[in-house]
Amino acid sequence: MTLFDQLIRHGMPFVPKPIVGKVAQRYVAGEEIPDAMNAIRELNAEGAMATVDVLGEEVHERGKAEAAVAQYLELLETIDREKVDANVSIKPTMLGLKIDATMCYGNIRTIVERAVGFDNFVRIDMEDHTCTDATLEIYRRLHTEVGHVGVVLQAYLHRTVEDINDLLPLKPNIRLCKGIYREPRTIAWKQYETVRANFISTMEKLIAGGAYVGIATHDAHLVWAGMTAVDRLGLDPSQYEFQMLLGVDPELRRIILDRGHRLRVYVPFGRDWYPYSMRRLRENPTVAHHVTRAILGLGPR
Ligand code: FDA
Repeated sequence: MTLFDQLIRHGMPFVPKPIVGKVAQRYVAGEEIPDAMNAIRELNAEGAMATVDVLGEEVHERGKAEAAVAQYLELLETIDREKVDANVSIKPTMLGLKIDATMCYGNIRTIVERAVGFDNFVRIDMEDHTCTDATLEIYRRLHTEVGHVGVVLQAYLHRTVEDINDLLPLKPNIRLCKGIYREPRTIAWKQYETVRANFISTMEKLIAGGAYVGIATHDAHLVWAGMTAVDRLGLDPSQYEFQMLLGVDPELRRIILDRGHRLRVYVPFGRDWYPYSMRRLRENPTVAHHVTRAILGLGPR
């Protein structure tokens, strides 16, 4: 990232919301279910699968958490009716984790049970470290009691290697990513190369331990490491998948698919797009270029 990119990145909270919306369009499918369906159909036509996320997080009212459950049930029904290749991803804090963990478990269970009815699958995203224990506990219970559910582990957390030791006996379904939240040094590796190295070693540990792994990254070095590991361990393409975010590096997406690997794209949609978009823009190495063009009223390039 150039110095200008760094400056814009730190100044993102001061960029007007309409500009953020304009620049972040590429990361979000739209506001409604039909928008998500259009994005999924395009991805399916390309040979990619999808996982759909209704945007929203940090809900502090029961009514809002219940409304989120209803949205997910409608989404699962639409996926089934329209016969697209997609599962769903959920965020516990959107479903009430910060209000009451028991209520949140019930809400997620309702969604997972509906997914079971459609022979579909629910991925529980991982949020910041204040949610890790509760999220893993919800995952354990649902995996044991219902099935058709997976969770996410973050390679930047010191604890991830121990979490894998705890989860492996369950033959878990894990999406492994670097981790996106700003975490303190006391709990998270901070150096880029250390996070990469931990991604590789935890990925290999998961694969060798019999977990189903979603290798979620746009880092070509890690994609290479994933391809090498599944080849060395003799995995069939049905035993793992690569995962990427909508709007990030479609060329890498093509490279992965052309090598015969399965790939799933994370497709977020909804009205509550701001926090998700801000995280994506902060990660974009050329954020300054895109923000400057949007401020000048120029289209994306
Ligand atoms: P890195 O950030 O190093 O990016 C590698 C390269 O990808 C960059 O150099 C750039 O070329 C390109 N790139 C990355 N981000 C870009 C962007 N926004 N715009 C343009 N180019 C970009 N995190 C979490 O904490 N909990 C979760 O549940 C999830 N879920 C999740 C699902 C999926 C499918 C993915 C791919 C990622 C997540 N993440 C996540 C986010 C993840 O933790 C991480 O922050 C991002 O994937 C960025 O890390 P990379 O491994 O891609 O490397």
